This record gives sequence, C-alpha cells and structure tokens, in this order.
Amino acid sequence: MTNWREIYNARRMTVQEAATHLKSGDRVVVAHGPGAPIPVLEAFAANKAAYQDVTFYHMVTHGGAPYVGEELEGHLHLNACFISASYRGEMEKGIVDFYPLHFSEFPAWLEHEMDSNVVVTVTTPPDEHGYVCCGLNCDYTIPAARRARTIIAEVNPNCPRTFGDTFIHVSDIECFVETERPLCESLPRETTEVEKRIGGYCAELIPDGATLQLGVGGIPDAVLPFLLEKHDLGIHSEVIGDGVQVLMEAGVITGKKKTLDTGLVVTGGVFGSAKFHRFVNEHPAFSLRPVNYTNDPRIIAQQKNMVSINACVQVDITGQVNSEFMNGIQFSGMGGQVDFVRGAKMAEGGKSIIACSSTAKKGTISKIVPFLDPGAPVTTARTDVDYVVTEYGIAHLGGRSLKERAKALLQIAHPDFRDALAEEAERRYHCKLF
Ligand code: COA
Repeated sequence: MTNWREIYNARRMTVQEAATHLKSGDRVVVAHGPGAPIPVLEAFAANKAAYQDVTFYHMVTHGGAPYVGEELEGHLHLNACFISASYRGEMEKGIVDFYPLHFSEFPAWLEHEMDSNVVVTVTTPPDEHGYVCCGLNCDYTIPAARRARTIIAEVNPNCPRTFGDTFIHVSDIECFVETERPLCESLPRETTEVEKRIGGYCAELIPDGATLQLGVGGIPDAVLPFLLEKHDLGIHSEVIGDGVQVLMEAGVITGKKKTLDTGLVVTGGVFGSAKFHRFVNEHPAFSLRPVNYTNDPRIIAQQKNMVSINACVQVDITGQVNSEFMNGIQFSGMGGQVDFVRGAKMAEGGKSIIACSSTAKKGTISKIVPFLDPGAPVTTARTDVDYVVTEYGIAHLGGRSLKERAKALLQIAHPDFRDALAEEAERRYHCKLF
C-alpha cells in the first residue's frame, strides 16, 4: 500500500477543488453540530450552478446551513429530521422537507431509505498511523462514512482527538481541506431563577450512582449545581456539553456504577465550548459511539438507574408531550427524546423527566394545556411519559389515571392558569380536582 503520507498529500486541495468532487444527484450527510465543515458547505453553495438535485441530511446545525435557500432550490436541498434556527424561515416557506424520525433510527434511514453516498465532516490532522479522528462526532457521521463513496474532510487542528468509534484512515477519504478556523461552540448560558428551581426538582429525582442523559441548554445547565453533592454518577447520552467537565473535575461523574460501559462517558457527540473540546482531547474516559447504540432503547435500558432529562414545548392534562411544534410550525424535531424516555423507563430503577418552565412568552402562555395546539404532534405519548417537572414541582404521571394525572399537572402549572385548567379537567372527568 502506498504510504499514507503520499495519499494525504496527493488529496490535499482547496475548498473550491473539493467542491468539484460533489456530483449532481449526490446525497450528502453533514456531520452534526460543531462537526459540520462550514467552509466546504459554503463552497458547495457558491458552486451551485454545477449541481442538479443534491440533497443534504443534517441534524442540528451550528454555524448555519449554507445549502438551504430559495435561490439554491433545484441545485441543493435539505431533508431534515430536526429544524434548526438557521432555516426555520425556509421551513415555513416549504423549502425544507421534514421527516419525523427517532434519532436512533437516523443511521439506518440514511442507509436504507436515502442511500446517502457522501459525507462531509471536520477531522483532526492524521496521526502517525495515518488515521484522522472525527473527534466531535460519531453519532450518524461515522456509520454514514463507513459506506460513503466520497468523504470530504475539513482537517482542523482545533478538532479534539477522542476515542470510541471516531477514526477514519486517510486512504478512505477523497478530499482534505486544511483550515485552522475556530470551531463552533455551544457556550453554557446564564441560568434563570425558574430554571434553577426546575434544576433543584430534577436533582431530587437523581439518586447516587445514576446514569444520566442530559441534553445541552438551560435546563441541563441548571441541574448541574445541584448534582455537585451526588456520588458516582455516570453519563450515557446523545450529546454532552461543558457541564460534564464540571462534574468530572468535582469527582461526581465516575461512571463506576454504570452497568454497561462502566467507567466511560458514552455519547454520540460533543457540543461544548473550546475549553470543553480541549478537555475531551485524548481523554480516555470519553467514548463516542453511533446513535444506533447510544439511543437504542434496548441499550439504554441496560443501565441501572438511568435518568433522562428532556425539555418540551407543552404538555396536555393527560400527559401527552409536544416537544417540537410551536406557533403552528415544525419548530425543532423529536431528536432522541422518545429513545431516552422509553429506554429509561425500561431500565431497572430508571426514570424519565420532561422538564419545562410552567409558562412561555413572559408568563402569557401556559405550557400545561388542556389540549395540545392544533396540528401539534405527540412527541412523547402519555403511555410513555413518567415525570414532568416545572418550577412548581414534580408531577409523577407514569402508571397514573387520567384524573390523577390532571391533578398532578394542575399542581405544577402556573397559578394564573390553574383555574382554567381545572375547569376543563373537571368538565372532562366529572369530579372536583382542587
Ligand atoms: N408556546 C409558545 N411559545 C413557546 C412555547 C409555547 N408552548 N414554549 C416555548 N416557547 C417559546 C419561548 O418563549 C421561547 O421564545 P423566546 O425565544 O421569544 O423567549 C422559544 O419558544 C424557545 O423556548 P425554550 O423553552 O427556551 O426552548 P429551548 O431552546 O429550551 O428548546 C425544545 C426546547 C423543546 C424546543 C427543545 O428542547 C427540543 O427541540 N426538544 C426536542 C428534541 C429533544 O428533546 N431532544 C433530546 C435529546 S438532546
């Protein structure tokens, strides 16, 4: 075999040259979150006239989605399973196609339904053995890369080198585009008083030794300070952020009590600050795995005391949860919510938590509602829901009757909306709930 260095040097090129390796009709998988090679995507958009009917597949976008736009239609098109803020406007105009899908199913869907054939991703420079590392993503990126016709890598020294299933040999990659741009970051944000109260209630439901799935964002960040007193927590998640570093450095996350992947922080991808990206670099405790592993409810169920925490848009008084549809439009997607709700429910000692503030829009809208909005999908079914938490407390719905659910949810609704909710529940169930 030719020396890998010769292969690498022969395939190094400008981003414009790399764009010529995309062909009409290609079906392109873009790495999740910070792993997206933005300069490569921008070059595709600039070269649009050269392509007909190229389709993109991408979960969460960080740094924009240059392949989406009215002017690109016919050339570049997005099939999305999650709507990110950068193209919500295009979604409303009908330019983006949305596919409802559990995140655990995404790799198989890309292979069997979409027949994807190109992968574009950020990687590290090659190591001494000739492997680059997709250090921020295994999720769906690596499964799609394993069978892609063409892989285009943005080789960037700011990409961490992580373990698990993240390495690709340079001989399997067609184009290398070197950059040194700072990668996109997910920065921890200031938590509000309401989020802190929600965090406190969530922490009450987390025992020592639990394995957690925590997304990124306000509520997971709010739970963290309350976890500093816990012992031997573990992580099994689809993404992780900076909070994991805080809890590892405090000795709280050890993974010692995990019943699967003991001692390891298992995740599909890494969405953190540059500081966190440096922390995971070469860190032997992190193991990045594909989402058909991390999000498979049968795998999640093997973690004793698994606790998942996810957010939502609204919950009706029977416990049906809408986490993806707002103001009449598809706002985001189901992601891995149901994968983790179901897996945690099946786990011995497991719990799933749906956490949200009791109101939205400065207190004018209740998130606990008699009926979901017209057209809103049920993301998590009432048969799957377990705990719902707001700043007013914890409602345990799993295994409860409709009357018991309505009563528990009324108690965690904002006081301004309780009377109206009670009126509807009492009409429906013919009983006094307060
Ligand atoms: N009605 C109207 N507006 C609402 C609303 C409702 N029921 N709920 C929220 N909003 C508004 C908020 O007021 C806020 O508006 P603002 O930006 O003008 O203040 C905006 O919508 C965003 O709400 P917020 O609650 O801050 O959203 P978030 O960023 O925390 O995301 C979800 C919440 C549910 C959309 C998000 O977690 C999601 O997409 N979940 C589904 C996928 C999932 O759970 N994956 C889990 C694995 S990581």
